[in-house]
Amino acid sequence: MNNTALLVSVVTLVAGSALTWTVLSSQQSAALPASVEPQITAEYGQQLIRDTSLHLGAGQSDPAKRYAGNNLDCSSCHLESGQKPGNLSLLQAASKYPTFSGRDGIVGDLTDRINGCMQRSMAGRRMERDNPQMQAMVLYIEQLGRQYEAMGESLRTASEPPAFVEPDRAADLEHGAAVYVERCQICHGVNGEGLKATADIADGYLFPPLWGQDSYNIGAGMARVLTAARFIKARMPLGNAVLSDDEAFDVAAYMNAQERPAMENLANDYPDRTLKPVDSPYPPYADPFPVEQHRLGPYSPIRAYNKKP
Ligand code: HEC
Ligand code: HEC
Repeated sequence: MNNTALLVSVVTLVAGSALTWTVLSSQQSAALPASVEPQITAEYGQQLIRDTSLHLGAGQSDPAKRYAGNNLDCSSCHLESGQKPGNLSLLQAASKYPTFSGRDGIVGDLTDRINGCMQRSMAGRRMERDNPQMQAMVLYIEQLGRQYEAMGESLRTASEPPAFVEPDRAADLEHGAAVYVERCQICHGVNGEGLKATADIADGYLFPPLWGQDSYNIGAGMARVLTAARFIKARMPLGNAVLSDDEAFDVAAYMNAQERPAMENLANDYPDRTLKPVDSPYPPYADPFPVEQHRLGPYSPIRAYNKKP
């Protein structure tokens, strides 16, 4: 997000007095121009995570340094540069790695995990391990871990609605479309295209796209309906997260039923297919249920089948 002041006024304009969203200090410092030589500091790492499209997307004039394939920011999903406790927070990320990834079938470190989001959520390409920008992001996420250690219990507690509880039924796309029109369209656009900050895509988005060619790809975590529903229930509409479980589930399915960038070699994901999440939207699967049911549910029959000897 390159223009916080403009964002705030637009958010206030569209959402009116119901909006309680406030911009934290983490978002207030001015964006570094993309031309500045990368320095391996946590502060620069935060800039990259907050203003990703400026530094690693369309705002980056050197194509060799443009790793992102879309113009989302990491902070489009990891709110407040990952500093916000709760859904998709990065406060505790560093402590989880290295760890085994079922998707990759190997033990990966934090660099690998960031590259997972780079290739999927950002529809881009891997950054080299010794890339200074990658190292700065790692440093920043490690610093968040130390920050979390020092935080009191009240600061660690997420201010978000009760966690999403999955309805035991298939998602209803028609209802999802109605929720979208009523609750999301005002910011994310009639065609899920988002709202650009200016006519120049190099300036990024005020409201990021939810589908279409500048969105996350089909291999991304957000392309899974349960992951998306958890995020939406916790965070959306931004500043006013009031959806029921049914609304969050249906609108997540509707969003993910739209077109988005493809990803190559998805069949190589989850070399052990029994580790594939039930809501992974692309085949092959370890069970005989159709793709449609993996995309929309109901999931209890799939889970019951997978528990068979
Ligand atoms: C479209 C939304 C989206 C965007 C954009 C995005 N991510 Fe993620 N990220 C996710 C989701 C969803 C997960 C969790 C995936 C899962 O549940 O398997 C995740 C997980 C992670 C994790 C692991 C967190 C943990 O606690 O294990 C890290 C680190 C991370 N992302 C960093 C980044 C970085 C850095 C960027 C930008 C280069 C980025 N992400 C962009 C959605 C996103
Ligand atoms: C008031 C404006 C507003 C409304 C209404 C709103 N959003 Fe968002 N949404 C945002 C902003 C802004 C972000 C990026 C977060 C940030 O930059 O802090 C975002 C991020 C997202 C993301 C992750 C990033 C991406 O582009 O994939 C998803 C998914 C999402 N919103 C879904 C929804 C859904 C579904 C609804 C309706 C239930 C909704 N939003 C309603 C403003 C809004």
